[in-house]
Amino acid sequence: MAEEERKDQGQTQNEAEARLQLERLLDALVGQSLPQGGRQELVRQVLEERRPGMAADLEALASRLREEVAQEVERRAQGESAPPRQYLRFSLNFRIQHAVLFSSCIALILTGLPIKFHDTGWAASMFSLMGGIQTSALIHRIGAVGLIGVGLYHLLYTGVLAEGRRNFLALIPGPKDLRDCWLMIRFFLGRTEERPRFGRFSYVEKFDYWAVYWGMIIMCGSGLMLWFENQTMRLFPKYIFDIAKEAHSDEALLATLAIIIWHFYNVHFNPHKFPMNKAWLTGRLSEEEMRHEHPLELEEIQGRGQAEEER
Ligand code: HEM
Repeated sequence: MAEEERKDQGQTQNEAEARLQLERLLDALVGQSLPQGGRQELVRQVLEERRPGMAADLEALASRLREEVAQEVERRAQGESAPPRQYLRFSLNFRIQHAVLFSSCIALILTGLPIKFHDTGWAASMFSLMGGIQTSALIHRIGAVGLIGVGLYHLLYTGVLAEGRRNFLALIPGPKDLRDCWLMIRFFLGRTEERPRFGRFSYVEKFDYWAVYWGMIIMCGSGLMLWFENQTMRLFPKYIFDIAKEAHSDEALLATLAIIIWHFYNVHFNPHKFPMNKAWLTGRLSEEEMRHEHPLELEEIQGRGQAEEER
């Protein structure tokens, strides 16, 4: 019995609260254009005649708002701010291309370098780890198919998809990249306080991208000549084959060192990014990262408006 009474009291209190809120809402809507009595009459009509469910709706809304405010207060009390905004940098398509590219490269490096340094102890260990020279050569060819495949797909992506074209155009180097590079050198030497402000791609990222283009042409071109040795010998004089072999071998070492020194520093070992820039996995950068690394792009996105960006 007492329980029911308490329930009734609660309901009456909720209704009174809902009525008060509705009165305030109507006040804001119609202002002083209705006299006090007229407003009360309007509230009565809305609550009791027109929309009997409205009081309950309002109560539900009020309790949801109360809950959200309480959560936010608790979050702030624990020193947590609202989750920072994330910006999509690489689409899933782009991330898959990158994953295929680096998996193929790792396989090619691990199976190629032991051939180049075949007279060392570690090369012998690598061969036995991979199940012998034959298996290692097979893995090298599988990696080569992956690399050529992703290269061809990337050309299609660049030519056909709007996203690919947009990225490609943003990757074309311009005079600003030279200026940025010069400013960065001066900044590192302590000659200026000003850091270059980058757009979607910095000169470092553009260099990374075009280095892969160059590497792909040399490695895939010379690799195919080595793979199809007989056809190459039939079509060209032997010294062309020898040049291809030398180019493949030297460019392999150059590419490996470039990946480890240049690329890994820029995306992993740089103190701002250590242990890694997660964009290759999540495709996203935080607002803080965008402000630090791509301030011009961030300003452009914010200028365009959030709705446009989400789309
Ligand atoms: C990141 C890419 C690549 C790296 C780092 C790499 C590395 C190497 C290295 C270091 C060698 C030994 C060269 C020597 O004799 O000194 C080699 C051999 C070879 N590579 Fe590559 N390679 C790559 C891509 C390719 C591609 C794309 C192909 C084929 C289209 C290919 C096919 C071959 C072939 C046929 C050989 C001769 C050895 C054998 O028959 O297994 N490579 N590679």
